[in-house]
Amino acid sequence: MPAPTAASGATSAARRKPDPCTVVIFGAAGDLSYRKLMPSLFHLYRGEHLPENMLFVGVDRVDLTQEAFRVSVRQGHSRGMGTQTAMLPKPREWEKFTSRLFYFKGDVTDETSMGELGTFIDGLEKERALGNRRVFYLSLPPTVFPKGLRTLATVGLVGEPRRRDGEWSRVIIEKPFGRDLDSALKLNKLTQEVLAEDETYRIDHYLGKETVQNVLFFRFANGMFEPLWNQKYIDHVQITAAEPLGLEKRTGYYETAGAMRDMIQNHMMQVMSLVAMEPPVTFDAESIRDEKVKVLKALRPIAPKSALEETVRGQYGPGRIGRNEVPGYRQEEGASPTSATETFAVIRVYIDNWRWAGTPFYLRTGKRMAKADTEVVITFKKPPHMVFTSLATAPQPNLLVLQIQPNDGIELQFEAKVPGGENKIQSVNMQFRYPDAFVVENPSAYERLLLDCMLGDQTLFLRSDEVEAAWKFITPIHQGWAEGAVPEFPNYKAGSLGPAEAEEWLAKDGRTWHNL
Ligand code: BG6
Repeated sequence: MPAPTAASGATSAARRKPDPCTVVIFGAAGDLSYRKLMPSLFHLYRGEHLPENMLFVGVDRVDLTQEAFRVSVRQGHSRGMGTQTAMLPKPREWEKFTSRLFYFKGDVTDETSMGELGTFIDGLEKERALGNRRVFYLSLPPTVFPKGLRTLATVGLVGEPRRRDGEWSRVIIEKPFGRDLDSALKLNKLTQEVLAEDETYRIDHYLGKETVQNVLFFRFANGMFEPLWNQKYIDHVQITAAEPLGLEKRTGYYETAGAMRDMIQNHMMQVMSLVAMEPPVTFDAESIRDEKVKVLKALRPIAPKSALEETVRGQYGPGRIGRNEVPGYRQEEGASPTSATETFAVIRVYIDNWRWAGTPFYLRTGKRMAKADTEVVITFKKPPHMVFTSLATAPQPNLLVLQIQPNDGIELQFEAKVPGGENKIQSVNMQFRYPDAFVVENPSAYERLLLDCMLGDQTLFLRSDEVEAAWKFITPIHQGWAEGAVPEFPNYKAGSLGPAEAEEWLAKDGRTWHNL
């Protein structure tokens, strides 16, 4: 998180700083840790968002010396930052951070090994006069997670033994939180046996994105849009997350997931909840999560027999992304040559409540799409009576586009008269872009979420009932897909806008997709 500048209006007095603590990352030698988690910890530390006296411990099964680990963390930081050279560490900053960064070779499913980890952390904390305040980030494969969590509890690193005065241990859990309703219930049960809900931080990194949080600020800090924010004035809402990326060596996991589980069940339904929720009574974790879960509970169920009508699936074949030829999904290393895994999915969602009755939300996501674009597009209804009857071109509906990434900002599209003697009309835009308005750069989602966890703020983390409500809605769709005919894949080219079927499907509702 870059330090706020005077121009940003933020003052250090407004900053929230946690108590000194130890952050332990499991899966420390993995891609997420090197590219996102470790750089986020470094930025928080460098930006003085954390106290001086902190400890960072990476745990993984691979053999690494302290030095080799620190070098890998440094390389991961460079990879993660890409061309943002301003973000690269100065030697002194790096030295200061790494003097507090340690590696422990250990197996989270082995009690002896985790017992030794406990002794290792105790020793480091004692040397630095740090109390027992610990964040455990479990960046673990779903198959390892249950046994790992139990082992940590058995050796007393998390749960009951840690609930002593002035001490705490909080556990950050990565998605997937199950793969259907049953497995999610089991996982929640296990988690609740070991941890209290206020020790459980289920992370959805989309909620850490500035532009996603801004949905709440935009809606509830302005009086102008909220009166229009309902079925009376809004025709429909499109939420899109399009990525040119392919599977980046994650095919093993993706083959068991697909776009619906990977993106829609979590990130996109979370964004939808923020767009659709009622105003919370106060801006605290429980009030906000109460309102979000009400949206998920109000979703009109899609029965397995309706799954094919209410959704469109796609899988990319070979194509081009920019100048590069890229293989199709079935040719990716680790994918089955006859894979039926969807890399593109669209779903029509109705929220059956007073505010949204009859207004569809369309959620769309795809890999290897022509462009990176994550956005929420709100299409307003036309005026009730059109007085401009003899125009050459018909007025277009007003659009409000909340641009999540890239080009983060907000755009309002409305109709204007073209200057001149004739009555001609044209759509025009009013735009807000973050870099134009603010001097500070947006911190990464993980910076915000790691900091919130250290502060004990659960607002941007998922509660168990949210996870269950989302799976309750999605699971029958997977059942319907499994019962239906195997889809004819591939059905879109890498580098395209997805399958033609998605256009035709929406056209049947008399609507078109917003251009990426
Ligand atoms: C992850 C998914 O949760 O989110 C990935 O597993 C996806 O498949 C990623 O690419 C998208 O995140 P972001 O922050 O790049 O939009």
